[in-house]
Amino acid sequence: MDVRTVGVVGAGQMGNGIAHVFALAGYEVKLNDISAEALDRALGTIGKNLDRQVSREKITEAEKQAAMDRISTTTVLTDLGSSDLIIEAATERETVKTAIFEDLQPHLKPTTILTSNTSSISITRLASRTDRPEKFMGFHFMNPVPVMQLVELIRGIATDEETYHSLLKVVESLGKTAASAEDFPAFIVNRILMPMINEAVYTLYEGVGSVRSIDESMKLGANHPMGPLELADFIGLDTCLAIMNVLHEGLADTKYRPCPLLTKYVEAGWLGRKTHRGFYDYR
Ligand code: CAA
Repeated sequence: MDVRTVGVVGAGQMGNGIAHVFALAGYEVKLNDISAEALDRALGTIGKNLDRQVSREKITEAEKQAAMDRISTTTVLTDLGSSDLIIEAATERETVKTAIFEDLQPHLKPTTILTSNTSSISITRLASRTDRPEKFMGFHFMNPVPVMQLVELIRGIATDEETYHSLLKVVESLGKTAASAEDFPAFIVNRILMPMINEAVYTLYEGVGSVRSIDESMKLGANHPMGPLELADFIGLDTCLAIMNVLHEGLADTKYRPCPLLTKYVEAGWLGRKTHRGFYDYR
């Protein structure tokens, strides 16, 4: 299956990053969101991030413009019907994702590949609710999408080889590297990363260190580009908590118990950078 046109559902942090890298790699991209405002914001963010790449001489002004010209936006989900590949990057709620695939399905070509950028929901379960489980895969990008090299490819139990190989080719065409993961809770990156972040929150909760000393320790002592608490704020504390819950429930092991302090922050609405308050104050 030759992929040329891509429909991205959801214009948030991940969706706009995904639209950015696909457009820059030469794909025609249709970006959909229920909110016209979110689409405008996404185009602004993509323009700004492409400008960064121009100013660092990673791309030319003409390449930036060509990428912007390849992105069209729509609030009508079914406008994505002619796409060769759908990447769902909507809210991390299973009912929302399932409804999107159900609404799209009757408008798609039989060959269209369906993917979800979910960070933790079962690919097999999402696929089973569509009319093409063999053409369904997890397609998990990392944040910030234009910078991070890795994409996780997650096969559901029914995913066929043709779909897997088509997506491997797509990842290569983006200049990124694919890691194949089996469909178990939180796949590879988050299975390892989230317990570390959760442990950092326990370290704070138990008074072992302050926010700054925990982050400095991991930056200077383990060469991480960001400390775990700063990274949690960057990812979103609600997302971190949701993934810990998926690990805790899915693997039924107390070692994945979310730290009560993480739960408390989320209950307070302190979700990190996006709400201007998390472990750090961004106001
Ligand atoms: N778009 C385009 N370029 C961007 C960018 C964006 N959104 N954000 C940063 N950049 C570029 C900068 O222009 C800069 O480019 P050069 O190397 O050419 O100079 C480079 O990235 C580094 O940026 P900065 O100098 O501004 O800042 P930094 O050195 O502090 O790096 C960072 C920022 C890349 C975010 C770095 O701190 C980092 O790698 N942090 C860890 C990120 C991480 O772990 N992400 C994974 C999260 S887990 C996940 O995503 C999975 C999930 O499901 C939750």
